[in-house]
Amino acid sequence: LADEEERGLTRRGLIGTAGAAGVGIGLGGAGGYLVGKETAEADSPEGTGTVPFYGEHQAGITTAAQDRLAFGAFDLLGESPEELAELLRAWSDAGARLAAGERTGPVNDEPLRPPDDTGETFGLLPSRLTVTIGLGPGIFEPGRLGLEAQRPPALRELPPLPVESIDRSISGGDLCVQACADDPQVAFHALRNLTRIARGAAVLRWSQLGFGRTSTTSRSQETPRNLMGVKDGTNNIRAEDTADLEKFVWYGAGDEPAWMAGGTTMVTRRIRMLLEVWDRASLGDQELTIGRQKETGAPLGGADEFDEVDLAAEADGEPVIPVDAHIRLSAPAETGGTKILRRGYSFTDGVDEVRGQLDAGLFFICFQRDPDKQFGTIQRNLGGDALNEYIVHDSSAVFAIPPGAREGGYVGEGLF
Ligand code: HEM
Repeated sequence: LADEEERGLTRRGLIGTAGAAGVGIGLGGAGGYLVGKETAEADSPEGTGTVPFYGEHQAGITTAAQDRLAFGAFDLLGESPEELAELLRAWSDAGARLAAGERTGPVNDEPLRPPDDTGETFGLLPSRLTVTIGLGPGIFEPGRLGLEAQRPPALRELPPLPVESIDRSISGGDLCVQACADDPQVAFHALRNLTRIARGAAVLRWSQLGFGRTSTTSRSQETPRNLMGVKDGTNNIRAEDTADLEKFVWYGAGDEPAWMAGGTTMVTRRIRMLLEVWDRASLGDQELTIGRQKETGAPLGGADEFDEVDLAAEADGEPVIPVDAHIRLSAPAETGGTKILRRGYSFTDGVDEVRGQLDAGLFFICFQRDPDKQFGTIQRNLGGDALNEYIVHDSSAVFAIPPGAREGGYVGEGLF
């Protein structure tokens, strides 16, 4: 800690809690990284914030979006519901420990066995880590685990959709782990250790790292920019929009199946951006494509980022926001009133060797009650999107996100 304080990294964030908690370093040998204040839903540049793992909903959905993502989808190996329950219990226990800034497991000093924790976060801050666990449609396949009666009816693979060229090897999965944190090593460490814990029960099928959030999930946050250089997340559902969350995101007490109350469903889409093409488009074309000004994020015809989008406005007999603009075609007014909560990340995975271009874009993640009725409806409407000249979706997955676990319980417990 002395080192860190000297470098001025942690002092400001820790000062408030240092007296009471002794800063929690080590936690009697069981601690992993430095623990700071208990609930930091807002930005915490110092990295000392922690987000509780347990609660009514899983963390990592309305949690103010962190800067980094490590996402993994898994194939289940076990053939019994008991094995699945055991895995979910082990993942939840580890997720809770890691989110609290502790090590994956307590035994890290036995010379004759591998340590419980892989170690790369020793000395790092909790960085608001969240671990969100999901269940793919395969879990509910008839004849597989005997859980078919428990399937949320909306949990189905998505039908074919516009602008996609889906690579099955980086799509789907029986389970997922979304680890988000403000430190990339903390996010990766969580995914790595949960993958390790799953050994023999589930195997990693594909994974995706993300840097730079591309959405805003709390009014406490500034709108970030995606790799096209435009503000992304202006008109998103936020943690503060409780009526929208209830209507569009969370399963309620009266919904079927009962075990999903407090849960939701997730869609992931790896959206490759053809950045070399985008970068050759004029500023005017870029703005007409999105329907917003690049610099300010204001809707065309408006002055401020949060000005109301006026889809009816015309100038010289032409709509100010073009008929094929992204914000027109994705707007609730054009999609039967539907909404989703977006929480994606930018990615770059080196060079596409066929085209000799950057393999980069948006790892799109969204939450809603019904993947096809909400995400699918919007995406079908985006079939005529001017943005389609610059993007292609190459991976797709859907997962049920069970409600949060109570302390001592585990995610998915209501299923068994
Ligand atoms: C690389 C692909 C994409 C890019 C670059 C992109 C970018 C943007 C931008 C800049 C905005 C305006 C700011 C905001 O309100 O957040 C926006 C809005 C929105 N986007 Fe996208 N987006 C992409 C893909 C998608 C996809 C796949 C969907 C869903 C199928 C989607 C749904 C929406 C929605 C619902 C809005 C808000 C519309 C409103 O109510 O005003 N976007 N997007």
